[in-house]
Amino acid sequence: MNSGPQPVTVIGLGSMGSALAAALLDRGHPTTVWNRSPRRAEPLVARGARLAGTVADAMAASPLIIACVLDYESLRAVVEPAAEALAGRAVVNLTSGSPEQAQETLDWFGAHGAEYLDGAIMTTPPGVGSAEMMFLYSGRRDVFETHRATLTALGDPLYLGQKPGLASLYDSALLGLMWSAMTGWLHGTALVGAEKIAATAFTPIAIRWLGAVTGFLTRYAPQVDEGCYPGDDATIDVQIAAIDHLLHAAAARGLDNALPELLKSTMQRAHAAGHGSDSFAAVIETLRGGR
Ligand SMILES: NC(=O)c1ccc[n+]([C@@H]2O[C@H](COP(=O)([O-])OP(=O)(O)OC[C@H]3O[C@@H](n4cnc5c(N)ncnc54)[C@H](OP(=O)(O)O)[C@@H]3O)[C@@H](O)[C@H]2O)c1
Repeated sequence: MNSGPQPVTVIGLGSMGSALAAALLDRGHPTTVWNRSPRRAEPLVARGARLAGTVADAMAASPLIIACVLDYESLRAVVEPAAEALAGRAVVNLTSGSPEQAQETLDWFGAHGAEYLDGAIMTTPPGVGSAEMMFLYSGRRDVFETHRATLTALGDPLYLGQKPGLASLYDSALLGLMWSAMTGWLHGTALVGAEKIAATAFTPIAIRWLGAVTGFLTRYAPQVDEGCYPGDDATIDVQIAAIDHLLHAAAARGLDNALPELLKSTMQRAHAAGHGSDSFAAVIETLRGGR
């Protein structure tokens, strides 16, 4: 049995697919590539990749196929005409999508005799290949375990569970967190920037504050699980008062206050539902559309 790096096919050579293929080449995997626009394969071919002439040829070349195209519709458009080449292959789909699309796609690949693992990439292309970066996977554990060593070439592989949609579900949740945090950081940066403070001066302090914020998440997670939110550290009512200072300071400097207005109104709805003296974690009841 061959114990060296296994052959892999990468379908989709946009910014991300190219980074995936490059990371596999770096680890010595015989790598076959295919892209709708073949010219994007040129830098990879220069590094030793083999360019397949057709999708069917690409899929036949390796037991493991890693796909990363724009969206699930594009993936189906690419693989459907060559579906007969899928039998006996394992497909790891790193294209972003919804949990429902993951289930439909698993069913479709299964119907064509292919094993399927859904995945999500929690980095940008420059982070691919780093053990620091998370790659999320969901679907059959045995498929994941069989290919774990190869997937380690891309980043730290985290298996989330059997339900195929879990990787997309976590991906969506984590991106929501990222956009909220980055928009909050940019709003704060604009606020201090109005006083001629550089982003590079503010950001180390913001990052240190994020360290404290992660402590709040650790404290509040069990409260969320238990549905019990003791306001013994900082209540929602105290924070409704505090956010007015942010609104005032930002308005006085001409900033767009849509984000803190939204946060205040969410806290106010939590207050109206009787959570004023609870911890901030009780806001989840409002977000769930409940009380
Ligand atoms: N970039 C990131 O930081 C990042 C991070 C995490 C996840 N992702 C996900 O990775 C996936 C790819 O992103 P990317 O940044 O690589 O995008 P990209 O650079 O725009 O590349 C898009 C890829 O999809 C292909 N494609 C688009 N429409 C197609 C169609 N109708 N039929 C066949 N192929 C089609 C493109 O082929 P052509 O070259 O022929 O146009 C190209 O290979 C997306 O799902 C994205 O959400 C990206």
